[in-house]
Amino acid sequence: MVQSATPLSDSERIERMRHGGRILADILREVLSIVKPGITTWTLEERARELITENIVKPAFQGYEGYPAVLCVGPNEIVVHGIPDETVLNEGDIVSVDAGIIYEGVYLDMARTVPVGDVPDETKKFLHTVESALSKACSFARTGNTVGDIGHAISSTAESEGYSVVREMVGHGVGLKLHEDPMIPGYGRRGEGDVLYEGQTIAIEAIINQGRPEIIISKEDGWTSWTKDGKLSALFENTVLVSKRCQILTPL
Ligand code: MF3
Ligand code: CO
Repeated sequence: MVQSATPLSDSERIERMRHGGRILADILREVLSIVKPGITTWTLEERARELITENIVKPAFQGYEGYPAVLCVGPNEIVVHGIPDETVLNEGDIVSVDAGIIYEGVYLDMARTVPVGDVPDETKKFLHTVESALSKACSFARTGNTVGDIGHAISSTAESEGYSVVREMVGHGVGLKLHEDPMIPGYGRRGEGDVLYEGQTIAIEAIINQGRPEIIISKEDGWTSWTKDGKLSALFENTVLVSKRCQILTPL
C-alpha cells in the first residue's frame, strides 16, 4: 500500500480508532474466553495471532523495541509485560492479558485481568476494585480536566481498599504511535498536570498491586516485571477519547 502524503485529520484518526477499538475489544474478548485451568500463556498468544490475522490488522507490540509477542500475558504476581510461554494457568490464579493492534495506521491498546476458574473472594474483590479504578478514571477523561484528575481517580479507588499503585508503569497518549505524550500515571493530584483536550486519545492504565507498590524488572528478558512482595498485581487498560464526556474506544 502507498503511504498517504496527507497527514491524518483528527476526525479521520478518531473514526479509525473507533473502528479499530471495536476490533481489538472483540479480539481480547475471544482470547479471554479460552482462559481456563490447564492452558499455557502461549495458548493465548496463539489464539491472538489467529484473530489478528483473521481481522486483517497488525500487532502493535510485536517488534516494538524488540518485544517478541503480540500479547503481554502475566499470571498472578506479574505486573506488566509478561512474555507468553509454556507457563500453565492453574485454578485460583489470575491472569493479565494486554493486547495492542494497528488498524489502518492507528494504534489501540487495552488490557484486562481475569480469574482462572474459581478464585478466593479476596481476589474477586481485588479485581473488582481495579476495574472500578479504571472506570472511575475514564469518567474523569473529559475536556478541560487534567492528567492529575485521572491519576487521582485511580489511586484514591485503589488505596481506599488498601491496595497500591505501581509508580514505574504508566498510561500514555496513543493514536499515531503506541506511546505518545503525555504520560498518564495512576497517581496524581486533582487539577494538576496537563489539561486534557477535545479529541485527545489516551490509554488509561490502572496497574495495581494487592500489597506494596514496589516492582522488580527481569534482568534476563528486560521486560517481565513482578511485585517485589510476591502478592498479586492486576492491570485494566482502555483506549479512550477525551470529549465532553469520555468515550471508551475499546468497549469489552
Ligand atoms: N500496554 C502496554 C504498554 O503500554 C503494552 C506495551 S508492550 C510493548 O506499555 F511490548 F509493546 F511494549
Ligand atoms: Co499501554
